[in-house]
Amino acid sequence: MTKLPLALLLSAAAAVHAEEPLSRIAFGSCANEHRPQPVWKAINELKPQLFILMGDNVYADSADPAKLKASYDALAAIAEFGTLRENTPILATWDDHDYGRNDAGAEWEGKKASKAAFMEFFETPQDSPLRERGGIYDAKIFGPEGKRVQVILLDTRWFRGPLRKMTKEEAKETQAKSGKKIGRYLPDEQSDSSMLGDEQWKWLAEELKKPAELRLLITSIQAIPNEHGWEKWGNLPKERKKLLDCIRDNATGVLLLSGDRHLSEISLLPPETDGGPFYPLYEVTSSGLNQTGLPEEDNRFRVDGTKIYNQPNFGVIEIDWTAKDPTIAMQIRDERGKAVNEAKTTLGQLKPCSR
Ligand SMILES: [Fe+2]
Repeated sequence: MTKLPLALLLSAAAAVHAEEPLSRIAFGSCANEHRPQPVWKAINELKPQLFILMGDNVYADSADPAKLKASYDALAAIAEFGTLRENTPILATWDDHDYGRNDAGAEWEGKKASKAAFMEFFETPQDSPLRERGGIYDAKIFGPEGKRVQVILLDTRWFRGPLRKMTKEEAKETQAKSGKKIGRYLPDEQSDSSMLGDEQWKWLAEELKKPAELRLLITSIQAIPNEHGWEKWGNLPKERKKLLDCIRDNATGVLLLSGDRHLSEISLLPPETDGGPFYPLYEVTSSGLNQTGLPEEDNRFRVDGTKIYNQPNFGVIEIDWTAKDPTIAMQIRDERGKAVNEAKTTLGQLKPCSR
């Protein structure tokens, strides 16, 4: 099949989806381009209407444009990924390894090079606002009125201030308590570091006010799980609260999708918890497409009856728009496409109850 430019596919998809609602969306993160990625076969068999790459899409770990390009070239050369790209619109944000350095934030001197490589690979249109502003945050709305799905892709790297690293003593202490290494950061209640930067925060509030029935809010790092010591919104507690406030104050129908962790799980923040919205807020973490293996860890918000799955996986959202109250199935699927974790909700449940 002739390979169409991604931008063309996206505009074709936008035209199609103006008529046709999105009812099957797949997503994933953490794909090391130097190792096999057999998971794409199951993703192609599912025939999603949209695929969302949620970061660590390549492990370039470099500020060198040639190395960044080589990493994206290696991903493009994976045959089954090529098939997906030919048939399916792809939206993307990045995380640290495609941003260019492990756990990097605003200080990363390679960010202009990684942004250039990102925009080239994903064929960002010449008139895209991404070319004028910092970072790569973006949003799109698919489908007809009454069945609109908004996809909001946050950039949790470009503007992010410093995190508080554990001292050696603190690391030893946390390890002694839990019997294993549980990360390298501690929440810093006093920190005024930003996660999104002022401009992106303002943009997010405006996006959330746009009319849509369901909103997929993509954050490369986890927002609800708050007990591990790896990267998470909870390392900047004021920013985690601001995110939950921003959702509560501006929008119904929000679902969070995240990656980064080399494990997958489904979390649920109950209504009005930690300053969050007046409706249940779900987060589906899918990581990774081939980078996996992190051990069991606590998460008091993990959905009852589900568990960590830490082998190659991808996430799926299926929406049945024909139901009176449209149903939403959130799944983690294994490398063969079998669902290993699932949670269900309805659009009606993602609204404040009779307030
Ligand atoms: Fe990451």
